[in-house]
Amino acid sequence: MRQRVSGKRWPEHLASMIMRWGLTAGSLGALLCAGMLGLFLSSPVAVQAQDFTNPLHGNLDAIEKGYKLFHRYCSICHGTRGKGGKGPNLQDEVWTWGGADTDVFATIVAGRPGTLMGAFGARVQPMDIWSIIAYLRSEYKGALYEAREKGVLTVCAMPNQLPASDKSSLGGFDIALAEEIASRMGLKTQYFWAKSRRGGVLGALSLSLVQKRCDMFMGVPVQQEAIDRVILTEPYFGTGYTLVRGEQASEVQDVMELADRTTAVTLKSQAEKVLLQSGYDCRPFASSHDALQAVQKGDMDVALVPTVEIDWWLKNRPDSTVKPVDGYVSDPNLLWNVAIAVRKNDYDLRETLNGVLSEMAAEQQIPKLMSQYGVSYTPPWSEDRS
Ligand code: HEC
Repeated sequence: MRQRVSGKRWPEHLASMIMRWGLTAGSLGALLCAGMLGLFLSSPVAVQAQDFTNPLHGNLDAIEKGYKLFHRYCSICHGTRGKGGKGPNLQDEVWTWGGADTDVFATIVAGRPGTLMGAFGARVQPMDIWSIIAYLRSEYKGALYEAREKGVLTVCAMPNQLPASDKSSLGGFDIALAEEIASRMGLKTQYFWAKSRRGGVLGALSLSLVQKRCDMFMGVPVQQEAIDRVILTEPYFGTGYTLVRGEQASEVQDVMELADRTTAVTLKSQAEKVLLQSGYDCRPFASSHDALQAVQKGDMDVALVPTVEIDWWLKNRPDSTVKPVDGYVSDPNLLWNVAIAVRKNDYDLRETLNGVLSEMAAEQQIPKLMSQYGVSYTPPWSEDRS
């Protein structure tokens, strides 16, 4: 079984993740402090509703009765199937007042004073309240079920991340992959373009997938510890940084040989961090594009830049004199795997996606999709690589 490369290196991989998603320098600290906390704290508290204390949970007669009661008392505010209206969606994992059965029960009995949510304890018997909850729980059958019902798989991706994904051209290898996955599942696609205030993938996840704006999120750097409310498929490719040199620069075999040079990097990137930690000289640029341009112009000898961005640069500039350094062995801290995220609890969707991904891998489909964007495919890194 393949192991995750990044399992134990959380801070470094946060940085590479930020790198990949082109976070601006100044906001890095803000993301690390506020953004990370924000992911867990700023949205309403999410409770996995595992605590099924409902004595009528799964009872079909109760569900039938709960359905009728819900339509009599609740759907005017919460929508016909509890999907939200004037009152919040009761079919997601986002709860202001707690999502465990006992919390929901308490909300219905006593209401939430100061809000439109009134107390129903005097009008609805306790066992009938349990019926309503049994009905609510029976409605949400998971993203896979709902996608099949609608015939549509809703995909989250970042809007301006070529070669991975782009909103305006509806292009990128992650979009091509999503299209292929949906078609193999017999589904159409629709997109939700995930942004975050600070540009990081973590923030984007919490504002999109976690909020049920989509069924799956493409291109997530593998980092399970970091992402509390999502689960990941098997990785579908491995990536990292590549060292490039300009026309005049001599060959370099590995990072050690960068000791007597100044390397172009992106400000606050993982590459910068690794080089600085090793005591090497580097000059930070605002973006990978700027770093590559400096090498192209001969202002810099070498640059250490995310591999997909170099591939994309070269695809668009066939006459560029920037060249990947042959035989360069990357520092393990500069490599990571990429997977698809789904919401926690959507294990069946993840299983289906894993099936489709391994089918595609067996048919060499993923390298083909990536090569349309000039990106050379690398299989996911395994921990035992040497
Ligand atoms: C008059 C409109 C209205 C009616 C009728 C109503 N609700 Fe609500 N309900 C709300 C609003 C608004 C909220 C959000 C309260 C808040 O601001 O947190 C809410 C909140 C809730 C919550 C808490 C959600 C959370 O995120 O923690 C539950 C559970 C709930 N309602 C269930 C019900 C049930 C079951 C019924 C019928 C028995 C019902 N509500 C009837 C308006 C209504």
